[in-house]
Amino acid sequence: MNKIKNSIDFFATRKSISVKNLKYPGPNQNQTMKILKNALRVPDHGKLEPWRIVLITEDCKKNYISIMEQRGKEINIDPLKIEKSKINLLTAPLIIAVICSPLTDSKIPEIEQVLSCGALCMNVLNNFLANGWGANWLTGWMVNDNELGKLAFNNSKNEFVAGYIYVGSYEETNPDRPRPLIEKKISYYKKKL
Ligand SMILES: Cc1cc2nc3c(=O)[nH]c(=O)nc-3n(C[C@H](O)[C@H](O)[C@H](O)COP(=O)(O)O)c2cc1C
Repeated sequence: MNKIKNSIDFFATRKSISVKNLKYPGPNQNQTMKILKNALRVPDHGKLEPWRIVLITEDCKKNYISIMEQRGKEINIDPLKIEKSKINLLTAPLIIAVICSPLTDSKIPEIEQVLSCGALCMNVLNNFLANGWGANWLTGWMVNDNELGKLAFNNSKNEFVAGYIYVGSYEETNPDRPRPLIEKKISYYKKKL
């Protein structure tokens, strides 16, 4: 766990840590739950809580990997991609599957529920980073294949994995990537008519 910054410095410098730079130890159960409790504080129109989280911890990691490998072979995922997924899963001490569970019979549009789930993913990522852990939000074939979500997490018909957040300690950090130019991305509304 690295040094904790004040919130202004944190947001000015925050960046994900590549999975290859993640190391053991990961956060223990108490640390994980404390961070996740805060991460659950996300905007949620209609208070539907259209998401849930499954933690893949050390004791069950091998089991998830074997389900992932079997499913990957079944649907002809490139063996190199399966191996890469396995290496990522073995490298990170903690993997967090964020599952989107939109209600289809709600007056709140599904897109807003999915956006709330995206906000949750970001909040999980940022809360681990803010607490001095390394973390990275990845998707790829393990997300795109809904059947894997059903097999591993008992996802219902409406549910899908929004992302996997890989968490661990780190020493090395990857260089920062180019960041958006404020003048290209932000403008003032101009009067119309
Ligand atoms: C929804 C989503 C899915 C992503 N999936 C992948 C992925 O599968 N593989 C990858 O290399 N990067 C993926 N990325 C990008 C990584 O999270 C990347 O490390 C991130 O852009 C770092 O940004 P940050 O430093 O601002 O946190 C994804 C990003 C998002 C938002």
